Amino acid sequence: MRLDKFLSDASPMGRKEIKQHIKKGMVSVNGNVIKDPGTYVDETKDEVAFCGEVISYKKFVYLMLNKPEGYVSATYDKHYKVVTDLVDEEYAHFEVFPVGRLDIDTHGLLLLTNDGDLAHKLLSPKSHVPKTYYVKSEKEVTDEDIKVFEEGIDLGDFKTIGGKCEIVSDDKKECYLTIFEGKFHQVKRMFEAVGNKVTYLKRISMGGLTLDESLGEGDLRELTDDEFEKLTKGI
Ligand code: URA
Repeated sequence: MRLDKFLSDASPMGRKEIKQHIKKGMVSVNGNVIKDPGTYVDETKDEVAFCGEVISYKKFVYLMLNKPEGYVSATYDKHYKVVTDLVDEEYAHFEVFPVGRLDIDTHGLLLLTNDGDLAHKLLSPKSHVPKTYYVKSEKEVTDEDIKVFEEGIDLGDFKTIGGKCEIVSDDKKECYLTIFEGKFHQVKRMFEAVGNKVTYLKRISMGGLTLDESLGEGDLRELTDDEFEKLTKGI
């Protein structure tokens, strides 16, 4: 690829700025100063440095966000703050988008990326990627409710695939619910279908990726290699 393209993919600098820096001799390839922005570089082998600092090439970025409430899972909204408002300046040039949606009042794990193919695979209804939510509900979750969740519920427009539900509090008003689709308001609708109501909802995992609980609400970080492998295994 062209040297200026390499730098625009791998750094927050704009194309015009990059060209100027290259022409001024601030960029080297394998230790040699290169002044032609159109010079061909091999991103898998060549060592590109800006002001002496080696730049590692990255086309895609994968960010784990601990979504707070009050943000819409979109890149633009007329009325509300959007999750991409939480992305630091250093990642701005990647133009990430959220993989799937969490409601405005839902908390927790949301993947942001610019990798459209991966997003498509993760969201494909055929992939049945499991998503686990920590749910607090108004009333206790009964054994009958668990049976219904695990067998699948007819929500009118579709029937859920059997999920998994584990009670985690003595008053039976807190549980982990795993579902295999990602329909609009699915968890809330499942609870409504059994005469209950969700009062707090937080996603804690998606496929092999688990929310890093040390991330504060509204914080994000890049996935580790290990997390990326776990997320993409089998899809
Ligand atoms: N189910 C819901 O009802 N809301 C979410 O945000 C995610 C799953």
